[in-house]
Amino acid sequence: MKTGCYLSQYFVVRRHTISIVVTIVSSFSFIMQVEIRPEDYKIKNQYICPNKISNKVDQCIKNIANNNGFVKYNIERKAFSTNGGNYLGLLYEVDVNGYTKEGKKELNIFVKSILTGHSDLEIISVHDVYKTEMFAYKVLLKLIDELQEDANVPIKERYKMVKIYEESDAEVILMENVAKKGFRTGHRMDVPSLQFTEMAIKELAKLHSFAFVLKVKRPDFFEKQVKTRKPPYNAGEQWLGLTQNMIKLVMDNIDDGYHEKVAKFCENISERFKSYYEVESIRRCLCHGDYRPNNILTKIVDGEISELITVDYQMMHYGCPIIDFLYFIMVCTDRPFRKHYLLHLKNVYHTTMTRFLKYFDLDVNNFYSRDDFEEDYKSKLDYGLVFSLIFLPFMFASEDDVPDLTKDDMANLKINVDKRYKSRIQGIIEDYIEWGII
Ligand SMILES: *[C@@H]1O[C@H](CO)[C@@H](O)[C@H](O)[C@H]1NC(C)=O
Repeated sequence: MKTGCYLSQYFVVRRHTISIVVTIVSSFSFIMQVEIRPEDYKIKNQYICPNKISNKVDQCIKNIANNNGFVKYNIERKAFSTNGGNYLGLLYEVDVNGYTKEGKKELNIFVKSILTGHSDLEIISVHDVYKTEMFAYKVLLKLIDELQEDANVPIKERYKMVKIYEESDAEVILMENVAKKGFRTGHRMDVPSLQFTEMAIKELAKLHSFAFVLKVKRPDFFEKQVKTRKPPYNAGEQWLGLTQNMIKLVMDNIDDGYHEKVAKFCENISERFKSYYEVESIRRCLCHGDYRPNNILTKIVDGEISELITVDYQMMHYGCPIIDFLYFIMVCTDRPFRKHYLLHLKNVYHTTMTRFLKYFDLDVNNFYSRDDFEEDYKSKLDYGLVFSLIFLPFMFASEDDVPDLTKDDMANLKINVDKRYKSRIQGIIEDYIEWGII
């Protein structure tokens, strides 16, 4: 799920007759995956989450129904499977069907609720990441929409977002269920199409541009709400255990000829990791923090992507733009793809930012010139390897054999990786040898 030095973990929590498989990955950023298995659902009239939150979700749905003028309605809920996607909570789809004074009406709501009880882990504060996501949806994205409106950005050029319901808070997030409109995510192990990567990189460049727009157009907000966004991770002991564990897994999967080079690179892997985030002089913007295909929804019409929307802002922080870029490239593409298109995608990123900032009468050279971008790219290129070494196993964890560990076992977790893992990690190592990093 990210780039840089990485920490990751899978664990299983069993309570209330639910098995939740949670995957945490961090590079500063963390991710958790929750898979709710069909046999674990207790649906019909019950939410599969702790009572306090369950009641709250019920109340929120009722409020939404009332505020939407329903006079009579039914509620249907369904657990939502992400197939190894990346959510830090319980997910469900809720459909409200019924009648308002005007006639028949249906609302499709997507609910993401916090995992309570075991929320605060050493590596990441679950409460903090929920607060960050609330900030993103309720405050930031609204402001972004306003800025795009004021600047008359053509509709099809705008940064896209999913609508959130005002009833949401830092424990329960309720948004429009765009799956009902045909939006989907791809599979985490597949290399996506060139069209997807181009569109995703364009969205990323737009998202990154907003920090610069805010700096000029909303300076107070920028000082108080943007510059202060810290990365969510805590590189403590658990993190170190995970890192070492993942390096071991890498070694077990790569050809002997690469061992020495990789081992040498990993000698100061923690220092490398910290340096991407903690060095004061880093050029920064608002980073997504977990920018990869699982968090990017697409709608396909006649075999072409017609729309693309980014979701999941839990790991958002004020950090180096290159980190989102490299993370995306390393996680979702393979060596042949990078050989053909990496240079092209760098161009797409920077030309999009240049053009997008013009809508706001801003000159990219005053914020993030091509030289700045190239300099960052060069000096932080190793981040892609740090991240891949630690994170990639999670992207390639076999779906039928999810590690069953408790959160205290981070340093010993076993991940059974899919057979495609080997060629992907080796391709990355070969790139870094070719690029002269290792
Ligand atoms: C890690 O070690 C390499 C090689 O010794 C060095 O070039 C690099 O600056 C070090 N990085 C950090 C962040 O300490």
